[in-house]
Amino acid sequence: MPLFDFADSDSLGNVRAVDTANVVVAVENVELLRKLQVNRLVVLRSSKAGQHLVGVVQKIIRDAVTEKALTDEPAGDELPPPVEQNVVRITLIGTFFDKKGWETNVFRRTLESVPEIDALCFPVEREKLTQFMQAISFQSGTDGQRLSLGHYTLDESAEAFLNANRFFQRHAVIVGSTGSGKSWATARLIEQIAELPNANVVLFDIHGEYHTLAGAGVQHLRIAGPADLDAPPSKEVLFLPYWLLTYEDMVTMMIDGKETNAPNQAMVLARTVTEEKRKALEAANQTELLKNFTVDSPVPYDLEAVLETLRGLDVARADGKSAGSKAGDFNGKLTRFISRLENKLADRRLGFMMTPPKEAQQLDWLPKFSKLLLSGTDDQPKKQGGVKVIDFSEVPSDVLPLVAARIASLIFAVQQWTPKDKRHPIAIFCDEAHLYIPDRSEADSVAAAAVRYFERIAKEGRKYGVGLVVISQRPAEVNRTILSQCNNFIALRLTNAEDQSVVRRLLPDSLGGFTDLLPVLDTGEALVVGDACLLPSRIRITEPKQRPDSATVNFWDEWSAKGGKHNGVADAVLSWRRQSMT
Ligand SMILES: Nc1ncnc2c1ncn2[C@@H]1O[C@H](COP(=O)(O)OP(=O)(O)OP(=O)(O)O)[C@@H](O)[C@H]1O
Ligand SMILES: [Mg+2]
Repeated sequence: MPLFDFADSDSLGNVRAVDTANVVVAVENVELLRKLQVNRLVVLRSSKAGQHLVGVVQKIIRDAVTEKALTDEPAGDELPPPVEQNVVRITLIGTFFDKKGWETNVFRRTLESVPEIDALCFPVEREKLTQFMQAISFQSGTDGQRLSLGHYTLDESAEAFLNANRFFQRHAVIVGSTGSGKSWATARLIEQIAELPNANVVLFDIHGEYHTLAGAGVQHLRIAGPADLDAPPSKEVLFLPYWLLTYEDMVTMMIDGKETNAPNQAMVLARTVTEEKRKALEAANQTELLKNFTVDSPVPYDLEAVLETLRGLDVARADGKSAGSKAGDFNGKLTRFISRLENKLADRRLGFMMTPPKEAQQLDWLPKFSKLLLSGTDDQPKKQGGVKVIDFSEVPSDVLPLVAARIASLIFAVQQWTPKDKRHPIAIFCDEAHLYIPDRSEADSVAAAAVRYFERIAKEGRKYGVGLVVISQRPAEVNRTILSQCNNFIALRLTNAEDQSVVRRLLPDSLGGFTDLLPVLDTGEALVVGDACLLPSRIRITEPKQRPDSATVNFWDEWSAKGGKHNGVADAVLSWRRQSMT
């Protein structure tokens, strides 16, 4: 039985004006107008049989106009009594088919026809709403691959699903002010992903708040902190050796672009690193690799040896002898570069990069590391590695963009070099993305380089099976190019006007009005729009079973508590000095 079989007498009114996706309906019955609410669904009769146009109420206007304005007749001495003209503005969002092929009650996001002038408009309420939302829910399910998010605010009994294929294929964004529920929404998605037998996800956990996610499908990894440098090796501790950095990374990190000698320093760096990589390959008898390697090739080399060469050049005389002769080409020009490099080497917070353990200096380390990130380790051969949560909480903020981008681009590079039939899709969840994919960054800064790597993934990832999920509380501070490549939006409460306007610009024009809801959403409530969701809608996200450790602190409760906690300030200062929580 067709879902939408309205009697003419149920109609709100008829269509007065139409443009591509917007319709104005005049409503005569004030009672009906009163019952109507913004963001509710309505159905318009289509000119095609068996089809109905579905729309969302954008605006309800009850207006008094004088007869004159309506009729344009010359006014007499006395003004005619005002009459009411009540209109409803509607945005069309799709078409509902009683039958399509073999299926009945099918909703599509296309508008195959537009309503005719005078077409009747009906509110979708009560049982009709429930049936419609059930149909949407069911249909999102029959597409297979469903990711459950929560329930529709319009009708709490209907479960809201995303098409998970489309969600990851065309990248996604999760935005919302602090405390609006992004991390919880992420956990809700992750816990479903983790149950799949061949899931493959990397989650960048910047504050270490996802350590609560547990289960067979979840692996916890962390970037080594200062305390890990002397500890026995452990499988979950990650090092990211300096030799993985590209020439550009090294330059942005080690060389001060404002110095007059910067070009000389960069040139010497490139030359010396290439030379050391060659030596390492020769020592390992890698004749094949020797033919094609460049300064950027991921080949371990000895940084101490590079430093030795630099020190030599910095004091060298032109004829190779010492006193009396002319100064060498680089004499005195490398001093500041050398001291920066020495500082980085001595900085224990950078130990995960600058002083990696011996194993991480071997050629066979990279395949093991890549496997860990991309395809599961040998002790879990069946799984593709499941969900890998990488804790970045001990990474210093100035190099965070570099580290996050290096890991992401390593994943991308491996995917690129994997033949298509062997490639296993992977999604990268970037929480707190504004910290490492910023919109404005100084040219040739660490962040600018990071943004370029992420841009590349956003633009080309789809072809190589790399999906991005960008999560941020400040969409206005996240790189625009990357956001514009995302086709799915989960927007939680956003109070800042600048952030709202960024989201508004990302949505299709006809749905722009939807964003007026952003500041009034409840915690855990989201506007969900995009490729992956059949009906652009407001959804209450179900709480995850395993909640991230991101609870909002109750100041007043804590302050009023009797007894109190053990005072941890002295310990905190100690941890701060040691740069480690442990
Ligand atoms: N779906 C939900 N249902 C009920 N409460 C929720 C939901 N999501 C979040 N909350 C509440 O809001 C708090 C903050 O959520 P969450 O940590 O996800 O915020 P966030 O958006 O990630 O913030 P930040 O940007 O600061 O990381 C949670 O501790 C929880 O109490
Ligand atoms: Mg969060």
